[in-house]
Amino acid sequence: MTVIAASELVKRYGDFAAVDGISFEVAPGESFGLLGPNGAGKSTTMRMVGAVSTRTSGSLTVLGLDPDDYGPEIRSRLGVVPQQDNLDNELRVRENLLTYGRYFGLPRRLVAERADELLQFAQLADRAGAKVDELSGGMKRRLTIARALINDPRILLLDEPTTGLDPQARHILWDRLFRLKEQGTTLLLTTHYMDEAEQLCDRLVVVDHGRIMAEGSPASLIRSYSTREVLEVRFGSDRNADAAAALAAGAAAPHESGAALEPRRRLPAAHRAEPHRMSAVIA
Ligand SMILES: Nc1ncnc2c1ncn2[C@@H]1O[C@H](COP(=O)(O)OP(=O)(O)OP(=O)(O)O)[C@@H](O)[C@H]1O
Ligand SMILES: [Mg+2]
Repeated sequence: MTVIAASELVKRYGDFAAVDGISFEVAPGESFGLLGPNGAGKSTTMRMVGAVSTRTSGSLTVLGLDPDDYGPEIRSRLGVVPQQDNLDNELRVRENLLTYGRYFGLPRRLVAERADELLQFAQLADRAGAKVDELSGGMKRRLTIARALINDPRILLLDEPTTGLDPQARHILWDRLFRLKEQGTTLLLTTHYMDEAEQLCDRLVVVDHGRIMAEGSPASLIRSYSTREVLEVRFGSDRNADAAAALAAGAAAPHESGAALEPRRRLPAAHRAEPHRMSAVIA
């Protein structure tokens, strides 16, 4: 049983394939991530799953339904947190929830009850009457998540839920999302951050240029792809050539050659002798 099944999913804009043959399946209650850099095709994939963008080819079912044929049914059963908050700035915080709830044709009293519960859940009860403009970025993100939950969805799509938030706001959001997961909500989320994927995802795919580059649990991906030590070194631009040559030649560690300005931390001697362990970030 899967709640989302994508097979060889493709989205083209003209000749350009934003999503170029992606396949994945998400089980009920699972938390599944799409991890990748800018332009990888994450939001494009999310929009197809959310039945707001049609696919060019491949197959896709959400809750067993094809978005091409059952767009409204799928949309009514999903919660969606888009990459850019699209709250109604004209309305106050609680009104945003009430208005959104009525789009789903839910009875007024039920929506009001849920709105109050969700304001508690999002730790915004004391801001119920505030204007959206007066909220901080993290509060807006929590309100957008609360709004996405007004129809009590079984699947929540979250496009970069914590980008731009400070560490404390991220942790609060992680905690809220973890609670939803514990209640059995299926999460499909995108992120740029492996630490976020590690916190929230049971499984993930790493996407780049519209294709899947790797997949597995966060722990298995970290085991397979990360080295024990990564040293980032930033060089002054006039010394790039010397520093790169020193690294390539496996000569003394850059800070010993005098080429590096500030290695972020010193490694034991054994590591200094192994330049292949070092990833140099040349500014
Ligand atoms: N409507 C569109 N028309 C043309 N190209 C598009 C359109 N939407 C997205 N693209 C292109 O598709 C590619 C994937 O975009 P997408 O927004 O899915 O990336 P992303 O992984 O979400 O990136 P980010 O991390 O920056 O949000 C990009 O090269 C983008 O320019
Ligand atoms: Mg995106």
